[in-house]
Amino acid sequence: MSSAASVLIHSSQFPETVRRDLLASLRTRRVNHKFHYDSVRQTGKWLALHEAYSPTRNDADCRAIYDKGFAAAAAQIRSRRVDVIGLGCGGGQKDTRLLKLLKARGKAVTYTPCDVSAAMVLTARETVLAVVPEEKCFPCVFDLATADDLQNVVWEGRRAGDPNYFGTATRRPSRDVARLLTFFGMIPNFEPQDILPKLAALMRPKDVLLFSANLAPGSDYAAGLKRILPQYDNALTRDWLMTFLLDLGVERRDGELKFAIEAGRFDLKRIAARFHFRRARRIEVENRRFNFKAGDSIRVFFSCRYTPERIHKILARYGLEACHQWIARSGEEGVFLVSRA
Ligand SMILES: C[S@@+](CC[C@H](N)C(=O)[O-])C[C@H]1O[C@@H](n2cnc3c(N)ncnc32)[C@H](O)[C@@H]1O
Repeated sequence: MSSAASVLIHSSQFPETVRRDLLASLRTRRVNHKFHYDSVRQTGKWLALHEAYSPTRNDADCRAIYDKGFAAAAAQIRSRRVDVIGLGCGGGQKDTRLLKLLKARGKAVTYTPCDVSAAMVLTARETVLAVVPEEKCFPCVFDLATADDLQNVVWEGRRAGDPNYFGTATRRPSRDVARLLTFFGMIPNFEPQDILPKLAALMRPKDVLLFSANLAPGSDYAAGLKRILPQYDNALTRDWLMTFLLDLGVERRDGELKFAIEAGRFDLKRIAARFHFRRARRIEVENRRFNFKAGDSIRVFFSCRYTPERIHKILARYGLEACHQWIARSGEEGVFLVSRA
């Protein structure tokens, strides 16, 4: 393995843009969740948390729904060449399992791990190297919610690393390469109206999308949310989420992080974590000051929980159709095979 990696970084993650997004988070008192994956330390904390709590790591049945989704996606793809585009790839574990299966089925695979965090795409790259050689792996860093030229971003990544990916005349991706997009565990942390138009715009008519979401278990939606609250309100999650505020100079004794269930748009409920200040604190970012008084709060994080019906409905609203689904017996996670409606 070479001692260097090429990573394409889109302007949506250039320092000036990230600074602007940080100021917006402090001004609106709603932290953009991308800031919880910014540093190597935060990435490490999230990966530890994921290892400890993610059902895909700890529940064989949950792993099985992914395996079924992977097999169905592989069966749907006729082309021999497949590019897996991992949107919000995280540590790349799920994408790596998918790529392994595609390879075992005789596909020639390439991998485009995409994430807002450079540390994450590099971790995903490292994970996948057991299955995909480094010259077939094209890491991209961009903000999925704000990059408005996503098709080009993904293509640019290939232009840099893999000239064979393109048809020579058009400089557009060759049509005999099937594209399989993954969007695992991403939807809960975005406002659906912000992210789903982006996802829909990124999909070409024949693209296949594997999509997963954390769900509220059981037939009583509100009761289901109460049941999964402890998966958020725990020491590892608190430690991970507090890193953002502590790095900005907030002290633990300035207040308390509280988790609650809140109602959102589209008949969706979410777990929200807010830091409630019990004493005044000024946060300074370069020359900008943000004053918090005792009694003020800032929303640090939220996670929308869906039901399978709510997933179908929200995808349909943005021209996407979930043709197949696999739901864990726990009712807490679902995998959906999606195409353009
Ligand atoms: C909950 S993790 C899911 C990771 C992985 N897909 C999985 O299922 O294990 C969310 C991932 O989304 C990334 N992320 C957060 N905001 C993003 C954004 N605006 N654009 C792209 N990636 C983002 C984070 O860095 C993190 O890797």
